Amino acid sequence: ANPSLLILPGDGIGPEVMTEVRKVIDWFGTRGMTFDVSEALVGGAAYDAHGTPLTDETMEMAQNVDAVLLGAVGGPKYDNLDFSVKPERGLLRLRKEMDLYANLRPAQCFDALADFSSLKKNVVAGLDIMIIRELTSGVYFGEPRGIFTEGNERVGINTQRYTESEIARVARSAFELARKRDNRVCSMEKANVMESGVLWREVVQRIHDDEYPDVELSHMYADAGAMQLTRWPKQFDVIVTDNLFGDMLSDLAAMLTGSLGMLPSASLGLPMANGRPKALYEPVHGSAPDIAGTGKANPIACILSFAMALRYSFDAGAEADRVDAAVEKVLADGLRTADLLGEEGVEPVTTSQMGEAIVAALAAS
Ligand code: NAI
Ligand code: MG
Repeated sequence: ANPSLLILPGDGIGPEVMTEVRKVIDWFGTRGMTFDVSEALVGGAAYDAHGTPLTDETMEMAQNVDAVLLGAVGGPKYDNLDFSVKPERGLLRLRKEMDLYANLRPAQCFDALADFSSLKKNVVAGLDIMIIRELTSGVYFGEPRGIFTEGNERVGINTQRYTESEIARVARSAFELARKRDNRVCSMEKANVMESGVLWREVVQRIHDDEYPDVELSHMYADAGAMQLTRWPKQFDVIVTDNLFGDMLSDLAAMLTGSLGMLPSASLGLPMANGRPKALYEPVHGSAPDIAGTGKANPIACILSFAMALRYSFDAGAEADRVDAAVEKVLADGLRTADLLGEEGVEPVTTSQMGEAIVAALAAS
């Protein structure tokens, strides 16, 4: 059977960038790699058609495909809707019901864009690292939480809480991923001052020793990790960390490389019967209502999200490398969507021109 893919274009520039991804998918189809693609509405588009940002039918489809690819949801038209039917509730439902506990944020620097980074060019050129953030537990969810009164003042409380199984499953995601990359994992916590960090380190080490001894594992305190990420990020391959540290470290790492229009992401859950993890791939950016309908959207973040699906859901690392190389090629040729313009005198290309150039580069590769 062909691998199956559910496409949820969503709102704003979501459908615009997804149109370009379809061209890439169709190109792979002409080369013998065919996906069973289905498409459905999510977010505001689903609300307009069905009165809900995600129908039960679409949820069911998402649970039964090999990977979901989502554009973006939301927009000013929906800002005043009741919270229960807001576009982002569609996305939240997908993440929750698919139990997507591992959030993958790559920081990948294309040489042609190295000048875009706020860091020195040699520090980021060729950078390709992956941060895995635990997404469904930790201090954002632990109980007790709340603002309580203690004596004559109030106290705000959150609880950092991780069970062994929560740590073990995200550690496995990291080791599985590392095997498809450079085979190295660095785990970050603060075992020096936090009990959850002590347990985190112990469980990650045990999963490594028992199940993934072939992967190189190191541990680092998360504050030192932040320092090392800006000093010499190329020392890392896969970084795995908790929800709070991952929130900060993944934002930091993402900006090592430049524009929002370039950043893909993925969220993974438990392996399904066929061994593939439940997976949702999406660009980091939103629906960009300020440029929707103008042809200015950069489709690369969404195309790279599909490349991540090739690599991490479909065991097609060589094909993912080809997409990456095609993106590198068009950037090296000087093609820029409006968000990537720095130099004077460069005429930006449109969303579809960028997509078509990437397909042409694929065909020539
Ligand atoms: P945004 O990411 O949509 O846009 C921020 C800025 O970056 C805008 O100036 C936009 O034009 C630009 N930008 C974003 N993606 C781009 C691309 N591919 N090419 C060129 N320029 C791009 O974030 P914003 O403006 O805060 O939110 C807009 C809407 O998107 C809101 O309704 C928000 O709730 C929603 N949103 C949805 C997300 C999702 O679906 N995962 C994530 C973030 C925001
Ligand atoms: Mg954040």
